[in-house]
Amino acid sequence: MKLEGKVAIVTGAGTGLGRAHALLLARSGAKVVVNDVGEGAAAVAAEIGAAGGDAMAVRCSVTDEAAVAAMVEEARRRFGAVHILVNNAGILRDVTFAKMSLDDFRLVVEVHLMGSVVCTQAVWGIMREQNHGRIVMTTSSTGLYGNFGQSNYGAAKMALVGLMQTLALEGARNGIKVNCLAPTAATAMTENLIPPTMKALLVPELVSPGLLALVCDEAPTRAILCAGAGHFERAYVTLTAGAYAGDDPDAGERVIAAWEAIGDPAGQTVPESGGAQIQQELASAARARNIA
Ligand SMILES: NC(=O)c1ccc[n+]([C@@H]2O[C@H](COP(=O)([O-])OP(=O)(O)OC[C@H]3O[C@@H](n4cnc5c(N)ncnc54)[C@H](O)[C@@H]3O)[C@@H](O)[C@H]2O)c1
Repeated sequence: MKLEGKVAIVTGAGTGLGRAHALLLARSGAKVVVNDVGEGAAAVAAEIGAAGGDAMAVRCSVTDEAAVAAMVEEARRRFGAVHILVNNAGILRDVTFAKMSLDDFRLVVEVHLMGSVVCTQAVWGIMREQNHGRIVMTTSSTGLYGNFGQSNYGAAKMALVGLMQTLALEGARNGIKVNCLAPTAATAMTENLIPPTMKALLVPELVSPGLLALVCDEAPTRAILCAGAGHFERAYVTLTAGAYAGDDPDAGERVIAAWEAIGDPAGQTVPESGGAQIQQELASAARARNIA
């Protein structure tokens, strides 16, 4: 069993993708804390127990710092450690940006981004101490590529990619691997978004095998894994080689003229950090100005 002896917290696991994740992690040998702000957590924990697994339900919001701290403490008391955190809880407040209230924007950012931050910070010290941790942020194709009517959700979901990028760097020396999962599944959340004919293909259980790859001992770090209908892809935040435009007043004209070359994907890379991108610019300028 891939996760024998591991302890996992899955947020928003009372239904949908979180439930499928919790069930698969338990089947893979992990003891599972089933979190949800709604009613479903107890039933999922009971389902795991009935199948011979070990689980406990915690009903609280991922945005409630005190409740999340208590959940992590209870997980350690009952199961002895926390090795895996799956930040999955989420909500939608879809409306076009023209009609969106700032309250709806803030609420979505609060649940997805700050909820993930609160839960991650609650386990970060534990994972550092034990020199082992697996954290998954649930991002979305909306964050990566945009979807009409989901500016709040897309902003929050892409913020999680940014969070992952830096936490993967900061966690590396303590064996903490941080990744993103971008799922597609027919759930309560997508009830009105996914056409009925596609629902049979997009079952949540076909996403969770991707989660397993992100939390097992061999897990990568800093990966964005897309998953739906049993198909898996990886998304990258790439950087083109680009072009130097000079340091004189005509530089703007040359950026316009060189637009194709600047965007040419041939030779693009995935920088290992933000600093690496700056190095590329400095190296190009140094070459152009004949600075050794
Ligand atoms: N279903 C998709 O196609 C899809 C696509 C991209 C991303 N996602 C993401 O996957 C995750 C799971 O979505 P789903 O489709 O299973 O949705 P869902 O609505 O079926 O489940 C979400 C769960 O999160 C819980 N939740 C909401 N707010 C919470 C809070 N503050 N604290 C704790 N729990 C809370 C809900 O009660 C619910 O049980 C979400 O982060 C969602 O944004 C889903």
